[in-house]
Amino acid sequence: MLQVEDIAKSYATPGGDLRILHGVTFRLEEGEALAVMGPSGCGKSTLLQILGALEPPTGGSVALDGVDPYKLPEPEQALFRNTRVGFVFQDHSLLPQLTVVENVLTPLLVGPRDPEAPARARRLLDEVGLSHRLRHRPGELSGGEKQRVAIARALIRQPKLLLCDEPTGNLDQESATNVAALLDQLQKERRMSIVLVTHSSELAARFGRQASLAGGVMTESAGQQ
Ligand SMILES: Nc1ncnc2c1ncn2[C@@H]1O[C@H](COP(=O)(O)OP(=O)(O)O)[C@@H](O)[C@H]1O
Ligand SMILES: [Mg+2]
Repeated sequence: MLQVEDIAKSYATPGGDLRILHGVTFRLEEGEALAVMGPSGCGKSTLLQILGALEPPTGGSVALDGVDPYKLPEPEQALFRNTRVGFVFQDHSLLPQLTVVENVLTPLLVGPRDPEAPARARRLLDEVGLSHRLRHRPGELSGGEKQRVAIARALIRQPKLLLCDEPTGNLDQESATNVAALLDQLQKERRMSIVLVTHSSELAARFGRQASLAGGVMTESAGQQ
């Protein structure tokens, strides 16, 4: 489903090229979840941005169901980002003035119309355990609840692939465990494909496959897959 071939990424800086990733190669089948571990600064967010059509690699290719988003013209690339992948960030990035339901529906503000989305938003909020908080605003929610809203928002377009960047990084232990359990449940029940990056080996251990990123190279743990 997701095919990543020999991805390289460097940034041009005044001090010369900064090589972040080189030779990252892996495949992810439908319904598989991969956790990528690595210390701060090793390129985890960069990798997710490349997978999510947000940042072109300097080498190699990414394909989701055979489609390389970077080979698409810009309008289709934006559509790909909006409909094929869902992002959950460390910071929930909810809009404070909107209600929970409205926040979940924000991806619909661009891209194709979807008359079933409001009903789906309610179902998703039920699934993440927030059906009693539909009219709340982010300021009236706990950190864990906000992150649950962000997960529902990431799924509103029914993406093939969910990309999670340190999704429990800002949460207390209990909320982090709840959010991790929710991702686990979604992955199993909806057969979601997930790539999650984290510096937490405890979180990574919940996912079917684990890899670590160091020196720009990704190495998958033996015995997985
Ligand atoms: N736009 C950019 N220009 C130059 N360097 C960058 C840019 N974005 C990230 N970096 C550098 O790339 C490295 C990896 O960053 P990042 O992917 O955010 O790491 P992580 O998510 O693992 O903490 C860091 O050293 C960071 O400073
Ligand atoms: Mg990061």
